[in-house]
Amino acid sequence: MTKARIAILASGSGSNTEALMSHFSTGPGSEVAEVAWVCTNRKVAGVRERAQTRGVAESHLPKAAMAEGELLRELRTRNIDWVALAGFLLRVPADVCAAFEHRMVNIHPALLPKHGGTGMYGMHVHRAVHKAKDETSGTTIHWVNEAYDEGDIVFQGEVALERTDTPEDIATKVLELEHLHYPVVLEGLIRMAQGTDVRDNTHLKSHN
Ligand code: GAR
Repeated sequence: MTKARIAILASGSGSNTEALMSHFSTGPGSEVAEVAWVCTNRKVAGVRERAQTRGVAESHLPKAAMAEGELLRELRTRNIDWVALAGFLLRVPADVCAAFEHRMVNIHPALLPKHGGTGMYGMHVHRAVHKAKDETSGTTIHWVNEAYDEGDIVFQGEVALERTDTPEDIATKVLELEHLHYPVVLEGLIRMAQGTDVRDNTHLKSHN
């Protein structure tokens, strides 16, 4: 079976990108897919160095170029099958959403539908969770559509919060959870789509 080719869209330091690149370069993950391209809208972003260090192709595409069709062209030229958003802070262009329906996922650092939507990213989310005095937070992996954070949920992982947790503590707990789950959940989705579903994916919500 040909390996699925994953593209990652990211805007920041790229710790989730690192977890995905690591997962799909060795072990069972590498049997079904590979990270073939990392793309960022920021010229300077830690995620670029992470990709370069691992020898994964990476590009910087400015927001305007993405919106004008360049992102979809690149995805097609590079024969990409799946797109994973990992700390990507722009709205995905409509042409890409349409072309990758149920082949594109995002990870959000809270339990959607709480603390999602425009402006809710990174520390903004953790500060909102802290302010709301939530007793739990977590991570949500969902299909991407044109609305921010509103695609159907595929998976949620939860973590208990202490009353003494600062927003930074919450961020650390959630990020750990993300690194643990995102690669495995994406592998599960790819295996389900390929029909090579030999692992237990009963925790995933499919899109039928
Ligand atoms: C992650 O926590 C991810 O869930 C979040 O940005 C962080 C990126 O970290 N994404 C959003 O807030 C999107 N709404 P990373 O660059 O270290 O992977």
